[in-house]
Amino acid sequence: MSDSALTSSFTSDSSDSSDSSFTSKADLPEARDAVQTLRSSQIREVANAGFGVPDVLPFWFGESDRVTPPFIREAAAEALGRGDTFYTHNLGIAPLREVLARYVSELHGATSPESIAVTSAGVNALMLAAQLVVGTGDRTVALTPLWPNLVEIPKILGATVETVSLSYGERGWTLDLDRLLAALTPDTKLLMINSPNNPTGWVMTRDEQRTVLDHCRRHGIWIVADEVYERLYYGEAGERAASSFLDLTSRDERLICVNSFSKAWLMTGWRLGWMVTPPTLMGDLGKLVEYNTSCAPSFVQQAGIAAVEHGEPFTRSLVADLRVSRDHLAAALARLPGVDVKVPHGAMYLFFRLPGAQQSLALCKALVRDAGLGLAPGSAFGPEGEGFVRWCYACDPARLDAGVERLAGYLAARGVG
Ligand SMILES: Cc1ncc(COP(=O)(O)O)c(C=O)c1O
Repeated sequence: MSDSALTSSFTSDSSDSSDSSFTSKADLPEARDAVQTLRSSQIREVANAGFGVPDVLPFWFGESDRVTPPFIREAAAEALGRGDTFYTHNLGIAPLREVLARYVSELHGATSPESIAVTSAGVNALMLAAQLVVGTGDRTVALTPLWPNLVEIPKILGATVETVSLSYGERGWTLDLDRLLAALTPDTKLLMINSPNNPTGWVMTRDEQRTVLDHCRRHGIWIVADEVYERLYYGEAGERAASSFLDLTSRDERLICVNSFSKAWLMTGWRLGWMVTPPTLMGDLGKLVEYNTSCAPSFVQQAGIAAVEHGEPFTRSLVADLRVSRDHLAAALARLPGVDVKVPHGAMYLFFRLPGAQQSLALCKALVRDAGLGLAPGSAFGPEGEGFVRWCYACDPARLDAGVERLAGYLAARGVG
């Protein structure tokens, strides 16, 4: 947003136009409007408020406190030792595309390497997906509360974003299908949907996916399905992943499925992900990868092969641990006065109501400052998140207990309960 109107009085009476030492505020370089109006991360804002505060227990970001398993780190170290330091194919090295195609086929039905593109993690895959299908003025719909990147990315490209909120009640967060379908008007270009969902842990049912898919097929609406948490799913015994749009589609429909190595193999810092895309888009996608990142780092892609080929036992034990941590934290929070917590079936967060969270950003800043507890404010995920805070439980129960103790102390000191 230019504030030239506010600063014009500085420029109009500058008689000496040759005085280059005087630059009016209106002349200062600034980003274009679409970028200036992007929301900045409230989670970062809280984390910044914690700088300088000794001994903060951070549960604000979406990552585990454990490092990537050794067999993956060793694969990267070996690749580096071999001198694997060069550019790769835009869409990823063939062996990684092949193991990913086998992995996706096992989980969701026949998928060839021609449908797989390797990306620099999930967030880059989301950007590429949006770049493939939306431009200036295109209408996008997103289901919220939602990790803000999905809402902000289409705006960078000049698209408009309308949000439809999940509803909160006795059963936790649920989808009002009629509201979503009503928003998916024939002039809608794209639906951005994330299940299992960050921050709520909500998981879309197969029937809901089928209904939304039928509607989008009828109107030619693209779906970008963010399924980076598909393996962090606490369903029936034997279920390996949450229901995916891939289960219901052939690979040549208007569906782009985004995934990541960050969550199922604890590889957040590696920046590796992939997308499942209609093969007809691959030529154009290759151009976009070239102009964004050119490729994912080659030795990181080698580590990705090790993760997919040998990581299944690790992912299964991670999910079992996460289930224990989720239940442990939910039970502890439920004992606190005024806390309303539901136990969701996916992702790695509890998104719960907390006294004082009607202004969740202010509350989270106070919790960091006064209690050394780092939580994410619900408002970071859309206005319907106000009143809630998000707690990432991907750590061991003793650490969660220490956090709950701090929260209990904070509430007690303010006379809650
Ligand atoms: C819903 C969702 N999608 C995508 C991502 C992207 O993760 P990454 O870029 O690390 O793959 C995240 C990260 O937290 C997320 O929560």
